[in-house]
Amino acid sequence: MNILAVESSCDETAVAIVRDGRQVLTDCIASQVDLHRIYGGVVPEIASRKHIEAIYGLADQALANTGLTRQDIDAVAVTYAPGLIGAVLVGVNFAKAAALAMGKPLIPVHHIRGHIAANYLAYPELEPPFLCLVVSGGHTMFVEVKDYTDMRILGTTLDDAAGESFDKVARVLGMPYPGGAALDKAAKLGDETKYVLPRSKPGDNPYNMSFSGLKTAALNLIHHAEQVGEELDIPSLCAAFSAAVSDTLIPRAVMALRETGYRKIAVAGGVAANSRIRSDLLAAAEDLGAEVYMPPLSLCGDNGAMIGAQAYYEYLAGNLADMSLNAYATKSILGEAL
Ligand code: KG4
Ligand code: ZN
Repeated sequence: MNILAVESSCDETAVAIVRDGRQVLTDCIASQVDLHRIYGGVVPEIASRKHIEAIYGLADQALANTGLTRQDIDAVAVTYAPGLIGAVLVGVNFAKAAALAMGKPLIPVHHIRGHIAANYLAYPELEPPFLCLVVSGGHTMFVEVKDYTDMRILGTTLDDAAGESFDKVARVLGMPYPGGAALDKAAKLGDETKYVLPRSKPGDNPYNMSFSGLKTAALNLIHHAEQVGEELDIPSLCAAFSAAVSDTLIPRAVMALRETGYRKIAVAGGVAANSRIRSDLLAAAEDLGAEVYMPPLSLCGDNGAMIGAQAYYEYLAGNLADMSLNAYATKSILGEAL
């Protein structure tokens, strides 16, 4: 089954064609990152306009790359939530029009389910159940993937997402948007013990997390150094920050593996590219004899292929939409009725 998959929830316009949920035939992406960089973050209105400009051409390019015709497409999938509402709407409206014009089923896909499904592309043998650590620009949560479309949230951030806090600290340090990767790179040259940053444990659920206190502590440290004219050791601050984020995530991942008895843990989302998180998770999982699934960096960020992968399983589960499909800025990954 060939699924034409559309993603436009943030600042990448993406159209992919994925066969049977596992084989990427083409994965076309038009990134707007350079455009938003001058503003230090994504400007929603610009994102929507750029999606409109790019999306049709990308779909044509996807067909051209594969040599497939519209008749060879069996269904159209689209990210319908969560994301910047104007941006998501562009993809949803395009996908609705394409599905209607081609007379094909329309499959709505939750963006975070898509991030998790990037693992199915990277690891053909991976099947649920497994645990997944979702760490993206907008989400940070531990998910029990019981089946392809049946999930349970163990815990989530109560305030900022990990990626959001990476980007905010990087921005104040003068790194270009999105700063997570630059901060990660700088951290490799630093001494993480030079600065002390907090690790918070919010609320009753031990799987819940908080990153706003950590972010504020890092920002205060930077501003204080500026005020008293003290030279900041940026690589060491980046190393301390990365260590604090990792120390928030990895012990919870270990606890989740222990308590659930699963021996498989996947990571998903852009922050899964972080080298500190990757190496700490690998080391922790090795101690437990657990298997770690980490998509390549190209599949960690937003892309259309991950939406096409999840769409196949949503289709098999009968989760289809009609022309009344709407876009949503926020929506739970648990997949309540549309
Ligand atoms: O999943 P994603 O592409 O977008 C959302 O769905 O939110 O994630 C983007 C996030 C940004 O915050 C970016 O700074 C972060 O992923 N990121 C990183 C790294 N590479 C990307 N954060 C830390 N270390 C990295 N190496
Ligand atoms: Zn994403």
